[in-house]
Amino acid sequence: MEVNVFQTADEAAQVLVAEISQLCADNTTLNLGFATGRSMLPVYSAMRSTLGAELPGICGWNLDEYWPQSAAGDLSFASFMRAQFPLANTPAQLPGTDLTGADLDQFCKSYEDRLEASGGIDLQLLGIGVNGHIGFNEPGSAPDSRTRLVKLTTSTIERAGFPEGSSPQQAISMGIENILAAKRIRICVFGQEKSAAVARAIESNMDSSCPASFLQIHADISWFLDREAAAGLSSS
Ligand code: GLP
Repeated sequence: MEVNVFQTADEAAQVLVAEISQLCADNTTLNLGFATGRSMLPVYSAMRSTLGAELPGICGWNLDEYWPQSAAGDLSFASFMRAQFPLANTPAQLPGTDLTGADLDQFCKSYEDRLEASGGIDLQLLGIGVNGHIGFNEPGSAPDSRTRLVKLTTSTIERAGFPEGSSPQQAISMGIENILAAKRIRICVFGQEKSAAVARAIESNMDSSCPASFLQIHADISWFLDREAAAGLSSS
């Protein structure tokens, strides 16, 4: 595991996007796993200016989405990604749907099947929730969890920014096993409010009470932190 601490989020984003840029040069098509959230904004801004707004050579795969997707409206993760990359040549693949029951299970399975058929994720971008969630794998998620419907925790719902009482209570999320299948994982965390989650994820025993702690077993994971996010680490 590599832990990189930068003065600013923008500096971290520049270094990460330089790596993505190199991978684009080395691959005909780069399968890039997209995450949403404020932490990703400096990264996507650097991607637009470095790689070009059309994101040539990149096929994006979104990590998660509120369910039912239509209930999320402008706050859906599909809308978030479209706002970040309105000119992308290949729109990101989305785990978003309003399907229910067995159709929904089949949708999740087919999302994984399409991803596998495309060769899998070359680089997965991630953020982290204050409660240690990755994607929408909330505390309690198992390391062998796969793409599925999940129930959101109160803290996640409160932070999502929906007008009171209108937030979807569930989401579709790629599971921890799917995330760990990515060839590379790059996780970006900025700001003091995430410092406790970062310290637990990196320095505590792996445990489903902090889903991000399972990232410890990945062979090629790098953390991109600013000083505030790194403040809880014993080595900082
Ligand atoms: C949501 C997303 C996560 C993201 C998290 C943190 O819960 N599902 O993938 O990491 O938000 O978002 P932010 O960076 O805005 O704190």
